[in-house]
Amino acid sequence: MDDAVVDAINAQVGREFAAELEYLQISAYFDDEGLKELSSFFRAQADEERSHALRFIDYLTEAGGHVAIPALSAPRHQFESAQEAVELSLAWEESVTDYINGLMALAVQKNDFAAQQMLQWFIAEQVEEVATMSELLSVVRRAGAENLLLVEDYISRSIVNRAGPDPAA
Ligand SMILES: [Fe+2]
Ligand SMILES: [Fe+2]
Repeated sequence: MDDAVVDAINAQVGREFAAELEYLQISAYFDDEGLKELSSFFRAQADEERSHALRFIDYLTEAGGHVAIPALSAPRHQFESAQEAVELSLAWEESVTDYINGLMALAVQKNDFAAQQMLQWFIAEQVEEVATMSELLSVVRRAGAENLLLVEDYISRSIVNRAGPDPAA
């Protein structure tokens, strides 16, 4: 494998693990707030991020690239509001989408066809991740800080039920 592609995938492994930690913190924040559905939703998101990191690691191993997990900085652990935590998550997903697109551009430039095929899955996955988080943010905004129990009810009926086995997998 081309060194630049290996380095870029290792950097992405770090971002996926960083997302896992951030979503665990957000899950803990919602648990503290007594919002169990939001807490479970973010716990499930954390599990997904870990599975993304492992997917990149497994790819490197199979394709002959050296795995080197980068150092992670501590995730944020305090939030002003539910809305702020969900806004942070949406911004994160949007930036990950940019990084995945950048990885694809690099794989194209390096004529790395196997990496391109692996990255197709992530491109589809990010479309879904951004859509899910945007939907959650609009529901949180609409409910407002005083009506987060409406968000709990909404999640129990919809988003979490879709966050099971990944249709893109
Ligand atoms: Fe991810
Ligand atoms: Fe994600």
